[in-house]
Amino acid sequence: PSTREYNFTLSEVQLSPDGVFRTMIAINGRFPGPLIRANTGDRLIINVQNNLPNGTAIHWHGLFQNGTNWMDGTSGITQCPIPPGGRFTYNFTVENQFGTYWYHTHYSTTNGDGPVGPLIIHSPDEVKLQKYYDVDQVVLMQDWYHDYSQALLPDYLASGSENGEPVPDNGLILGTNYFNCSKLGPDSGYVCEQNSTRAALTVEHGKRYRYRLINTGAFATFEFSIDNHPLSIIEADGTATEPLAVHRLEIAVAQRYSVVLTANQSTASNYWMRAQMNTFCFGDDNPLLDADVRALITYTNSTIEPTNSIDWKDALDVECVGLNSSLLTPFFRTEAPPATVFYALAANFQIGDYAIDRAYINGTSWTMSNVPTLNQAVAGLQSSNSTFTTSGVSSAFSANQYVIDVPDIAVVDLLITNYDEGGHPFHLHGHSFWVVATSPDQYFDWSTYSALNTTLPNVMKRDTIMIDAYGWALIRFVADNPGLWALHCHISWHMESGLLMQFQTRNDIMKTWELPADVLGLCAT
Ligand code: C2O
Repeated sequence: PSTREYNFTLSEVQLSPDGVFRTMIAINGRFPGPLIRANTGDRLIINVQNNLPNGTAIHWHGLFQNGTNWMDGTSGITQCPIPPGGRFTYNFTVENQFGTYWYHTHYSTTNGDGPVGPLIIHSPDEVKLQKYYDVDQVVLMQDWYHDYSQALLPDYLASGSENGEPVPDNGLILGTNYFNCSKLGPDSGYVCEQNSTRAALTVEHGKRYRYRLINTGAFATFEFSIDNHPLSIIEADGTATEPLAVHRLEIAVAQRYSVVLTANQSTASNYWMRAQMNTFCFGDDNPLLDADVRALITYTNSTIEPTNSIDWKDALDVECVGLNSSLLTPFFRTEAPPATVFYALAANFQIGDYAIDRAYINGTSWTMSNVPTLNQAVAGLQSSNSTFTTSGVSSAFSANQYVIDVPDIAVVDLLITNYDEGGHPFHLHGHSFWVVATSPDQYFDWSTYSALNTTLPNVMKRDTIMIDAYGWALIRFVADNPGLWALHCHISWHMESGLLMQFQTRNDIMKTWELPADVLGLCAT
């Protein structure tokens, strides 16, 4: 194993990914951020300098952080934010996983402003997948706003704006897209240069391309396809899968899929790569938005727009849904043991005429804690405060920190029911989970549970799942990773309005922890 070191300086810059200049958050002046690549077993050291006017923290989405919960990078949960002008070094090893991951800031809605990038973990086991492809490439996609997220947030959080999430102005593939400046009008106040272009990806006839798709956005689900070229899914969220042939697939925020394109079409033409936003997930319209976000696939390195590129005839989704994970089968067999504990979570939004609209999980709405819940827990466990070891919903934390303490090494079955008219891509930190069952129908049929609570041979494992509007998902994970782990909707607007809860696992081990001085030091400033 080797040690790989990166230096990240976060600062506000004026950039124009689609021609429209705006204040964004860049890493080392760039957007998207640099590619981090490592082998499983390696140590990653990332020195972060925060030159932003606000605090920040960087989360390594999908990495287990087993034994290093304090490197998980979640503000208010595993660390205090790195203060403006401050530095912090993330230092951890990557073990027992490989595949497509990413990183992003985990402080309010700032991840939508640009500080995102790919994190690819290789392994000798990857060789077994390489029979499916010749070339390995990352393709980031995300929704894009022409305004700073912190400027959009107050309106969204104001009373009466339920399902009034800011609707993106554009979408980006590989950090770029075309935008028609004239849509803005002369008095818009935006500076728009009519020079932005769509991304172009060159392919060589006869080769097979593994595109590692990552939705690094804030809100939108994309329906991804490539004209004239069927795709084969071979990975989802770091879990290699048996090849699944599709024309189109939905990629919710924070999800990753590897798809293989076989370059076997006529080289006389170019073709569109499409990342069409599922506008059924939006509560409003945005006249600026062209939801048909595109990039070019070219066999000849030309950037001429396709003339006879054919979109698939299969209909786009007419509902706010995700790809059904039960269609996927892990390439490397995994067996889910029966659950030993069961928890149910209900997610909804509550509106009051005079109240701020907030999102709730089991009646609680998360706000960032000034003292990270991890720090509270370690101190509480060490003082033998028994409220930190009551299994189930913990009474040790303040009301807006909904923490479930999982006893021993439990196998957790978690039923998440979505009582909202929007889909929610839920992400669990520190673990990947088996997708036991999902449904677009709000009511879980309890009579089916005993049949599900058995050893499940080779069901799909992932770390982010779309819970359809008014639907539910039953997921299972082995809670063996000590620490405080967030479970939240990855739509940044929703997380910020409270759609987040936490699991506390292995409090027996946490009790023996001494949090590193530099982690504790972040709370002292
Ligand atoms: Cu990408 Cu809390 O996570």
